Amino acid sequence: MSPENSSPPVSELLRKRRSARRFLPRAVEREKILALIEAARIAPSACNRQDWHFIVIEDPGVKAVLAREAGASRLLTEAPVAIACLYRNDNPAEGYQSSSAAIENMLIEAANQGLGALWLNSFGDEAGYRKILGFPPEYFLTSVVLTGYPGEEPHPPSRKPIEEIIHWGRFSKGAALPLTHDPDRWTLEQIRAHQRLECGKTRPGTLQDLFSPMEIAAVRSLYPMAGGACLDLFPYDGHASLAFFRPLGCRITFADLSEETSRYSRETLAPAFPGASFLTFDRLDALPDGAFDVATLLFRIERLPGREYRPLFERIRRLLRPGGHFLVAFRASSSLYGVVHRLLLASRGDNVRKTAIHTFFGPYRPVRPEAVASRAMEAGFLVEVHRMFPVPPLLPEFFRLYLQYRRSGGRTYLHREAPESRIAGWIERRMERDAGKDAKLGSLGVALLTKPS
Ligand SMILES: Cc1cc2nc3c(=O)[nH]c(=O)nc-3n(C[C@H](O)[C@H](O)[C@H](O)COP(=O)(O)O)c2cc1C
Repeated sequence: MSPENSSPPVSELLRKRRSARRFLPRAVEREKILALIEAARIAPSACNRQDWHFIVIEDPGVKAVLAREAGASRLLTEAPVAIACLYRNDNPAEGYQSSSAAIENMLIEAANQGLGALWLNSFGDEAGYRKILGFPPEYFLTSVVLTGYPGEEPHPPSRKPIEEIIHWGRFSKGAALPLTHDPDRWTLEQIRAHQRLECGKTRPGTLQDLFSPMEIAAVRSLYPMAGGACLDLFPYDGHASLAFFRPLGCRITFADLSEETSRYSRETLAPAFPGASFLTFDRLDALPDGAFDVATLLFRIERLPGREYRPLFERIRRLLRPGGHFLVAFRASSSLYGVVHRLLLASRGDNVRKTAIHTFFGPYRPVRPEAVASRAMEAGFLVEVHRMFPVPPLLPEFFRLYLQYRRSGGRTYLHREAPESRIAGWIERRMERDAGKDAKLGSLGVALLTKPS
């Protein structure tokens, strides 16, 4: 480093830059904001057109209006500075590429300035920004950058190894992950690879999956015991497991597919269950026969290839004591939920990214209760299957997701704080009436598997 240049070398800054999602409530100095825009200014652009503009938003009132009216992520309201990045609206491919070069420069300069920054795609509805920030139709919003003094140490980088992404001369077969929602067309290894990376994209412990407290209460009403040694499989974001186990006094082992997802689960579950163990799935094989009284698989079998059911059931049977139970909760394909899921696929396409609510965990499809029952019997379990909730408890949540999707101009389903609606309220009351009753075409399936004594 030369004396006149006190900045760290670029390679160091590249590694120092991490997405920041928590900020201190401290204003950012004008000269630091200018340094970010200066970094953007010197970025490359197609034909050196530099058709970019940057609107610096510091006013909390304006950010609150954007969050409310444009359906932006609440992160926008938490960051002291938001920078709306615009580009000329004549060639979107050039616009996005040039703007991205400028944005990356800003993020690196933010690291250099001791600031945290976030590239925000969930910025919401462009029309709302246009109205509130007053930019003309000749320009479009490419993205938003948030910045401020970081309020936490960003979590460590997770990146694919170089040999996984480099191809010399020609694309190597087998390197691509599937796009389909259908777990039967994924291998367990591919699901593991997908989850390892997806779970690094947000703050550990964040709620990701959808479940209704009513579903959890219904599954628990079938739970045969309230203690002992429990094994919970694939908790991942951990929230369904937290809701299920919190009132029960179990010694719990949580098993996830990878080290990364296990770390993610730990963030939610360790404070609630002191003394719990966190393992990766493969390490279960080292445990002795009959180590557990009860095992649970809560809304995860939907994400596994059908060919994995039987090996999984055999593995769990070995780990249960004679007379022990395995509780498998799932959403059934032969139900209104199955119909809603098929409609979602028909409207969004067979693309795991486009049914975004499921992306975090990888592929997803409601399952055939008969398939669960037959594979469990083949694995030597005594099987009892219950069906409940003809009106799926997730419908109100889907409705909220849809409202948020519309509010954000089709940009995000997440960050939903959509207003309660009369329809959602009606469905919820209807489901309260159904709670606990067996229903032939119920959307919630619970397989209660018993290891013969
Ligand atoms: C185009 C783009 C859009 C992004 N949008 C969001 C977003 O909307 N919300 C968010 O929390 N992070 C967003 N990120 C940040 C990524 O999640 C983050 O870069 C990634 O997880 C890697 O972590 P790192 O930036 O700390 O290395 C975005 C990143 C890029 C490049």
